[in-house]
Amino acid sequence: MVAIIEVNNLEKVFNGTIRAVDGVTFQVEEGEIFGFLGPNGAGKTTTISILTTLLKPTAGSATVMGLDVVKDANKVRKVIGLVPQELTVDDDLTGRENMMLQSILYNVPKKEAIERIEELIGLVKLEDAADRMVKTYSGGMRKRLELAEGLIHRPHVLFLDEPTLGLDVQTRAVMWDHIKNLKQKHNMTVFMTTHYLEEADSLCDRIGLIDYGKIMALDTPTTLKRSLGGDVLQIEVDGERDFIAVIQGVQGVVEIKREGPEYRVKVIKGETAMPLVLKALADNGGTVTSVSLERPNMDQVFLEYTGRSLRDAEQSGSMSKSQARAAAIQARRRQ
Ligand SMILES: Nc1ncnc2c1ncn2[C@@H]1O[C@H](COP(=O)(O)OP(=O)(O)OP(=O)(O)O)[C@@H](O)[C@H]1O
Ligand SMILES: [Mg+2]
Repeated sequence: MVAIIEVNNLEKVFNGTIRAVDGVTFQVEEGEIFGFLGPNGAGKTTTISILTTLLKPTAGSATVMGLDVVKDANKVRKVIGLVPQELTVDDDLTGRENMMLQSILYNVPKKEAIERIEELIGLVKLEDAADRMVKTYSGGMRKRLELAEGLIHRPHVLFLDEPTLGLDVQTRAVMWDHIKNLKQKHNMTVFMTTHYLEEADSLCDRIGLIDYGKIMALDTPTTLKRSLGGDVLQIEVDGERDFIAVIQGVQGVVEIKREGPEYRVKVIKGETAMPLVLKALADNGGTVTSVSLERPNMDQVFLEYTGRSLRDAEQSGSMSKSQARAAAIQARRRQ
């Protein structure tokens, strides 16, 4: 495995007091979708801004494809694409015109640009809207246009800052498909940020949980969830008899709590343990009246590592400018 992005003890302090990024170290491997998951103000955009050469770090270092983001900033810019959190497309141009403008900014020769624009418009499925003014686009269409723009110079590494912010669930899923496609077809390395738990879980190969400028945990979604100590079976057994000893004897059972007829059984792997536990109960005369399987989700993971739930952190934090804007776009669409 080759590290495409290497970050060492990165720090960014604003105005001498705000530690937006507070000693962050991580690597992103080639072809990986790597995500930063964290609430408003966690330091996600600041990190992306440093990695994409828009901001200089206060301390520490970072390289992209072996190029230093401070010393080799111009070279870094050529190999990366950025889809920023704030929408940058021009409302009074068509989608195609916006892309042409972007290709000029990146010095893509005209003939090549025309071909690539066609290909990218197809990739993000904007064929029918390409010649319409962007002000007539929905929020999801704008985001897809932004994605296409970030790809115009064929970057090796793509930075996506909140790629699905403010999009509805269906449009979000379409965006995930586009991102997965880029990885599969072009072996593109993707660094993205999100504060959507489900997005980090289903899209990212590895996730860094970021809170107050620090990485609190970093691993694959599966490993992070497993680290919480497995799945939980909720079982209700008829009658007064105690079945703790019976359940305890089953392979894969880690812990049991009983409250009256209800048993909370922590197991290594729910799907393997459930039939074994049910069989043990049946063999010992227990009548099961209900059973359910609870798997750890990313919110529980976030809570475990940061001491607060991401959903609560989001609600208590004020809405960022871009989130307010995304909410406004959504509200407009609903009218
Ligand atoms: N230019 C700046 N000057 C001063 N403070 C800043 C600046 N940019 C960011 N900050 C502060 O740094 C912290 C991290 O901000 P950042 O934008 O990186 O968070 P984020 O994780 O991207 O949040 P969001 O989910 O809202 O986009 C916040 O406290 C923010 O107020
Ligand atoms: Mg941000």
